[in-house]
Amino acid sequence: MSVIKVAILGFGTVGEGVYRTIQSHSDELSAVLGKKVEVAAILIKNKDRKRNIHDEVFVTTNFEEILQLPQLDVVVEAIVDKEPAFTYLKNVIQRGCHVITANKEMFAHHGKELLELAEKNSVSVGFEATVAGGIPVIQTLRQLLKINRVQQIEGILNGTSNFILTEMREKKQSFEESLLQAQENGYAEANPTNDVEGFDAFYKTMILSQIAFGVEPEWDEVEREGITSITSELMETAGKIGLKFKHIASLINEGNQVKASVKPVLVGSEHPFYHVEGVENAVAVHSDLVGRITLQGPGAGMFPTASAVIEDLVYVCQSSSSKKLTVKTSSVLPNQHKKIKYWLVQGLIPHNCPPFISLEEEIGEGIFVVKASKDDLNHLEKQQTAIRYFSIEGEFQSKIVSKESVTVN
Ligand SMILES: NC(=O)c1ccc[n+]([C@@H]2O[C@H](COP(=O)([O-])OP(=O)(O)OC[C@H]3O[C@@H](n4cnc5c(N)ncnc54)[C@H](OP(=O)(O)O)[C@@H]3O)[C@@H](O)[C@H]2O)c1
Repeated sequence: MSVIKVAILGFGTVGEGVYRTIQSHSDELSAVLGKKVEVAAILIKNKDRKRNIHDEVFVTTNFEEILQLPQLDVVVEAIVDKEPAFTYLKNVIQRGCHVITANKEMFAHHGKELLELAEKNSVSVGFEATVAGGIPVIQTLRQLLKINRVQQIEGILNGTSNFILTEMREKKQSFEESLLQAQENGYAEANPTNDVEGFDAFYKTMILSQIAFGVEPEWDEVEREGITSITSELMETAGKIGLKFKHIASLINEGNQVKASVKPVLVGSEHPFYHVEGVENAVAVHSDLVGRITLQGPGAGMFPTASAVIEDLVYVCQSSSSKKLTVKTSSVLPNQHKKIKYWLVQGLIPHNCPPFISLEEEIGEGIFVVKASKDDLNHLEKQQTAIRYFSIEGEFQSKIVSKESVTVN
């Protein structure tokens, strides 16, 4: 039986998971591919760290030695930061190898270039692990987009933020206490900025945009907000009317442009993400024929992420061109900024409120449910600069009583 030779760049959580899965699932891989998959080499940074790697695998800290291996078919990249990962992958693509990456930061910045280079070199790029870990989002989109037109995608794409929000609500504890808990459980890094300020979810959202719509919004026009300003008190107030805070990434095709946001919003029990708790991720894809499909599962971790990489391994070995990964068919929704919907507004002064903002109910001191468009709220914010507002998503079944119940002095 002929052999597919794989090199793994990085031997951390993901790299080791991929290595172990190639050993543990070698029969399945051989059966599907008709060839034996062998890890030929592993690139690491710190050569003094003890690792559980078989003697016959070539382990090096020098990338050039990997590039010069006599046979190399697939390179799995599982290191951190944009560089040197991008340069390494460009080199291996030029050598004619398929590549698979888990590195969302690098891929959000350079994915397009890598896909173009891969096409020129007739190799494939797998990047399933860059979005929502073990959940096969890219594969599902690839399948759906053959005929369906995607209109909208929403996702809980950062397990750390979702874990912190869940802890804050369930244990009525502060953001800081919940972050510490996430760090103790190994869900958050010592520097949690990427997760809690929404950068990680932002990168994943941009990757999804490329896949679903073939374009990305201007990065600096994307509303990106993390979860650091949500308090457990505000959560409790929202809970009184059956709402939970979730950190949701959203992509909407409005025709001449794709609009994206990554921010905390409120969802009621009808929303598909209401029950997505802890470190779980979820993605809902809305498309014209099938309607809404929701995928939920582990967004990170050694074996869930290895699962995504191994599925890509099969995919790149079976497909001859990366073209198949850059599908784009979409369907248009109207401008969402003009849509009248429910919002939770904090710090609102009701007697100063313009008539186009419909006050529905006061649910806490200075905290109102209102009905308005996003444009209306932007306008209000210019007059009442201290307000903060959160979208209430989905089918909001209000427990709200009549407008008359609002006391406007
Ligand atoms: N962890 C997850 O669940 C998960 C899920 C999806 C995607 N990802 C992405 O996958 C990538 C890897 O994540 P991870 O959690 O496995 O990270 P990790 O545990 O920190 O491991 C990173 C590995 O990369 C190696 N490395 C770093 N810089 C290197 C360099 N310049 N040259 C060679 N090796 C280098 C490190 O080598 P040493 O061991 O020698 O220090 C380490 O083995 C990241 O981009 C991450 O965003 C992670």
